[in-house]
Amino acid sequence: MLKVDNLVKDFATGFLRKKVRVLKGVSFSVNKGEIFGFVGPNGAGKTTTFKAVLGFVPITDGSVELMGKPLGDVDVKKHVGYLPENPYFYDYLTGEELLRYMGQLHGLNGKGLSAKIDELLEKVKMSHARKVQLRKYSKGMLQRVGVAQALINDPDFLILDEPMTGLDPIGQREIKDLILEEKKKGKTILLSSHMLSDVEALCDRVGVIMSGRVVKTGELGKLLEEIHTDYEMLLKYVDERIISNLSDLKISVEKRAGFLVLRFDEDIKERIFQVVSDSGADIVSLHPLRKSLEGLFVEEAKKDIHIES
Ligand SMILES: Nc1ncnc2c1ncn2[C@@H]1O[C@H](COP(=O)(O)OP(=O)(O)OP(=O)(O)O)[C@@H](O)[C@H]1O
Ligand SMILES: [Mg+2]
Repeated sequence: MLKVDNLVKDFATGFLRKKVRVLKGVSFSVNKGEIFGFVGPNGAGKTTTFKAVLGFVPITDGSVELMGKPLGDVDVKKHVGYLPENPYFYDYLTGEELLRYMGQLHGLNGKGLSAKIDELLEKVKMSHARKVQLRKYSKGMLQRVGVAQALINDPDFLILDEPMTGLDPIGQREIKDLILEEKKKGKTILLSSHMLSDVEALCDRVGVIMSGRVVKTGELGKLLEEIHTDYEMLLKYVDERIISNLSDLKISVEKRAGFLVLRFDEDIKERIFQVVSDSGADIVSLHPLRKSLEGLFVEEAKKDIHIES
């Protein structure tokens, strides 16, 4: 469905128009019918990649093929929906007018368009505010109407830049359901997010982007398996001796109402057991902490520093 190969993007910035390489050879592909999550820290290049795929910014090098066509193909655009990161739109329009305008851009009109607008406003629970100007919308309301406009042309391929930001928990749930519904209809979705829970709930595969490079792609579960597990151990606190023994191991130790809470990673597990048993402390519990997207970022960031040096 989408194949991005070695995409490079330079921006000229500042007074001297100095070139900054924002995308340093981004490669990934999205298969038909899947939800692909693009994850990465702020400034990694997610939005820039999306804009490049959509043909909104000229690319410096590399190639993008969407629905078998090269970048910029006009026919392809008819089948694509896009939710921008900051859907600020034309704020003097009402929600309904925005959808009508977007629909007309896609060549829709008449009763068909009116019915589609009603259906979408209902879907994103914004029918009540259809006659209200966008400048009077809250962040979450804008996000909802943003999702609606992305769907106006019943696109086969949806690009959603952080679709859940700004929404309350119920709103997030609703938008997630809506995304899953589109997938059920056979649509292909590329979305970005910082939130592991979103990505877990939605995506078939993810791509991790760090400083302008896709450093990993695959199923989220498999990617998380590759990172270290952190453990949390609860000990019945005995005396200060154990704290001084543990301090040599440079791990997190916290006193909590008669207990000690230790946090450490896999590598050091055996040594912790040794120190604890030598100190005669009782282990109350030991459990692995949830592997997180943050953990993945941290591990990849370490490698990234290595690449750059
Ligand atoms: N028009 C521009 N001119 C110059 N630099 C830009 C421009 N647009 C983006 N950048 C830079 O490109 C880098 C990537 O930005 P981008 O918006 O793609 O990141 P992102 O992954 O979407 O981040 P976030 O999670 O914060 O949305 C940033 O360092 C940003 O400052
Ligand atoms: Mg962004």
